[in-house]
Amino acid sequence: MIKNVTVIGSGTMGNGIAHTFAQHGFEVSLVDINADALAKAVQTIINNLDRQLKKGNIDEQGKTDTLARIKTYTDLQQGAANANLVIEAATENRETKLKLFKQLSEICADEVILASNTSSISITEIAAVTQNPGNVIGMHFMNPVPVMKLVEVIRGYSTTNEVTQTIMQLAKTLEKDPVEVNDYPGFVANRILMPMINEAIYTLFEGVAGVQEIDTVMKLGMAHPMGPLQLADFIGLDVCLAILKVLHDGFGNPKYAPCPLLVNMVTAGHRGVKTGSGFYKYT
Ligand code: CAA
Repeated sequence: MIKNVTVIGSGTMGNGIAHTFAQHGFEVSLVDINADALAKAVQTIINNLDRQLKKGNIDEQGKTDTLARIKTYTDLQQGAANANLVIEAATENRETKLKLFKQLSEICADEVILASNTSSISITEIAAVTQNPGNVIGMHFMNPVPVMKLVEVIRGYSTTNEVTQTIMQLAKTLEKDPVEVNDYPGFVANRILMPMINEAIYTLFEGVAGVQEIDTVMKLGMAHPMGPLQLADFIGLDVCLAILKVLHDGFGNPKYAPCPLLVNMVTAGHRGVKTGSGFYKYT
């Protein structure tokens, strides 16, 4: 029985995951090493609950109850002490994740499920640093988490059937539609999405069309809710670059090589919405 969920990392994905679990009755411990980031995450959750309240999707009591179920911690040991399930949503960095899972495996009891919200890093590799690789799985939510229906459930090489079924069922409890996939670079979502975004950036880089024009073609022509360049800003250009590198290294195929313009933008600190500028400006 999963009742207590610990979410590690309070960035865009972490706060959305905490919001969604709390809204569906789970007790949530949100952990981040940075106390300011935790305060910002709680404010984001309040803003998003207010948005749902305004739309009439929840009432005042629903908002109060959801917030009351979220506790914040800067200490991993304290935050993970009562967890039945841990979902890691820290920075998309291999070393950070491996270190965290090693620590979690020492802190948590054997039966605790350790999930990662990674968008591309190998679940099998993450599981290999833990004491119970059968209990490690990918639970990949989409942004904005409270809105998007998909959860990509990634089976590592050692993930047990029982753990996979528990997570598939849990996603349904959150009113999501889970899809089970195997553990290969980029899984399914980003193996298909990132080459499209990279191609849109190459199209801009080569001067075929401007930012607005590229996005308009994909929005109006393919009925995408956002154009690929706006979506890249929304995901984070650093995250897009990190995922493309995983695909490029994992398959050794030049078709996944990140566009030099993307590399330059990330190097220059233009990482999209979170830094106020990417392909568009944000105030
Ligand atoms: N929290 C709660 N509710 C939110 C929200 C949030 N953060 N953001 C939006 N909403 C709600 C709104 O209240 C609204 O609710 P109703 O339908 O009940 O009215 C609904 O979502 C739509 O919002 P808006 O009307 O404000 O805006 P929109 O129609 O432009 O939709 C969007 C916004 C849902 C983000 C839409 O633009 C969209 O679907 N964009 C593409 C998102 C996408 O592709 N996500 C995947 C990214 S890839 C990823 O996450 C994984 C990875 O590994 C990189």
